[in-house]
Amino acid sequence: MIETAQHSVHPIGGSLRVFRQFVWLEVGSVKMAFSRPAHPRVTPAVGRLAKEVESSSCCNPKELFMANETLTHRLARRDDLEALRVLMDLAISELQKSFLDENQIASSRAIMGLDTQLIDDETYFVVESEGQLAGCGGWSRRATMYGGDQTPGRSTALLDPTKDAARIRAMYAHPNHTRKGVGRLIISLCEEAAKAEGFTKMELVATLSGEPLYRACGFVPYENIVDDRGGAGVPLLRMKKSL
Ligand SMILES: CC(C)(COP(=O)(O)OP(=O)(O)OC[C@H]1O[C@@H](n2cnc3c(N)ncnc32)[C@H](O)[C@@H]1OP(=O)(O)O)[C@@H](O)C(=O)NCCC(=O)NCCS
Repeated sequence: MIETAQHSVHPIGGSLRVFRQFVWLEVGSVKMAFSRPAHPRVTPAVGRLAKEVESSSCCNPKELFMANETLTHRLARRDDLEALRVLMDLAISELQKSFLDENQIASSRAIMGLDTQLIDDETYFVVESEGQLAGCGGWSRRATMYGGDQTPGRSTALLDPTKDAARIRAMYAHPNHTRKGVGRLIISLCEEAAKAEGFTKMELVATLSGEPLYRACGFVPYENIVDDRGGAGVPLLRMKKSL
């Protein structure tokens, strides 16, 4: 049996308790609970849980919860800028290694990063875990599809919710906080906020690192592109979703 993450989302601010996925196995008198193997911080907790399960009379998986950590979210502020830059830099360097070579990662810096317009528009979220910045990302009611303040060709033109797709923008998880639902939480917040403004669809331009998250959130790819404005060509994917 697999329990999936439980999300409780509040568009402006609030808290989220994440329960990690776990697998319940019961064969005869042996009862065990396992997390997915990938998560080092969860593994010790799973070991403890498995011992408790073995020594208890509890047989109902639904009574077991893997309380991992609490994610809180709020709108980003201008005084977050320095911390956001550090997080993005780390995410660009570390989390793209399995998808891009060194030249492409260097090139990515020209076309990724912080767009302060999103903060000023109050469409950019930060997610914290135990008081530490765990991730950031947002959406936009403006035409720019992707890029940071330094990226050329941006447009602040306002979109028309009755015919245009709102944008998902600048999604980053701190490398110590990946696969904890940070990205998924931010996408949910963005979708709720865009819907509240009358948008019925969303679009984004995904990095290869971002693609699995967006697919998991229901976005579908419709065009492959390569951006070489930073030097080496960086493969990207246009994706969209109806709200
Ligand atoms: C993309 C990114 C923001 C994902 O953040 P995240 O908080 O780790 O994502 P989540 O934990 O919310 O993942 C939600 C789901 O997406 C999918 N997913 C996310 N990252 C994945 C990965 N590396 N491999 C496979 N699936 C992945 C999974 O289905 C995951 O659910 P699961 O963990 O329950 O299996 C992060 O990897 C990142 O910062 N990448 C570098 C910067 C970047 O390229 N950003 C995208 C710009 S378009």
